[in-house]
Amino acid sequence: MRTLEWVPSSAALQMIDQRILPERLELVTYTTYQEVAEAIRIMVIRGAPAIGAAGAFGMAMAGFQSSAQDGEAFLKDMETAYQVLNASRPTAVNLKWGLDQMMSLVKLHQGSIHDLRNALLAKAQQIADEDVEINKKIAAFGAELIDDGDTLIHHCNTGALATVDWGTALGVIRLAFEQGKKIHVLVDETRPRLQGARLTAWELQQYGIPFDIISDNAAGYFLRSGQVQKVFFGADRVASNGDVANKVGSYMLALAAYDNSVPVYSVFPSSTVDLTLSSGDEIPIEEREGDEVLDIQIKGERATPRGATARNPAFDVTPNRLLSGLVTEKGIIRPPFHLHLPETLKGA
Ligand code: MRU
Repeated sequence: MRTLEWVPSSAALQMIDQRILPERLELVTYTTYQEVAEAIRIMVIRGAPAIGAAGAFGMAMAGFQSSAQDGEAFLKDMETAYQVLNASRPTAVNLKWGLDQMMSLVKLHQGSIHDLRNALLAKAQQIADEDVEINKKIAAFGAELIDDGDTLIHHCNTGALATVDWGTALGVIRLAFEQGKKIHVLVDETRPRLQGARLTAWELQQYGIPFDIISDNAAGYFLRSGQVQKVFFGADRVASNGDVANKVGSYMLALAAYDNSVPVYSVFPSSTVDLTLSSGDEIPIEEREGDEVLDIQIKGERATPRGATARNPAFDVTPNRLLSGLVTEKGIIRPPFHLHLPETLKGA
């Protein structure tokens, strides 16, 4: 089952509701781009490539929602949809990438509006299908990095749920396991929304890959005591120098790994790279509501004092010097990243 799928009979977008996994696997269905934008904002769907595809389908829906009869009015409706969808989450550049692909189609189209509506849907479907193919290419490169007997730390969720299907960093781990390598995964729980403990652990169970969930705070202990051979995580936006914005906690994890000479790999499709940014300092970091940090219960009891406030940055930036390699569908990129990343992406 894909994380999101177009339902032709009802012109609707169906998604796995990632807020309620692992307790229940339920699907939700949306018929307007405004609902899709809200689903991205409240994280019914999350993960950089998954929201890129969701945004593209949102634009296709906007095309069907528009009653415009002429090209100019249609373009105006599509621009409104673009703004609404793009505002739903700011850090993962895949969302903007997906929306830009759809907008180029609108601007370049020569035929009727009827044909354009169908072309938009076909484009969104193509973006979704290609995401799965790209992830499998990434996995083929990345699995080479994993040795038989490795214990790996993985942060956040980068699996099938974070993409249309298969996944990025977790897709690498999954392929290595399918190749017969005996591996063990230490799953960072990934506070505050617990994408690791809830989603990655659920996926690893489905695939039969051995794992233990660890608190984020325990990663340093495992790294320093020599129990971990490699660290893998995804990316939400990568600057042209190879600085990586990813789920908050990635930076501390990479620091602890670097201090213990454990290689750190960030895994992502080229749609996650923002070559317009010279360094990670320019990446916008989403700050979410404090209740994600505060509304935690332990054994049914509220764990924080009522009235307490919280800060909740959803991402942080890992500087390129802490990374051993960037794994993409074009191959594994090694330092110096400020040279090799743009070269690889431009096919030089
Ligand atoms: O806030 P989320 O759950 O959307 O954050 C997701 C991550 O940070 C992932 O690690 C990243 O999108 C890469 S997933 C292929």
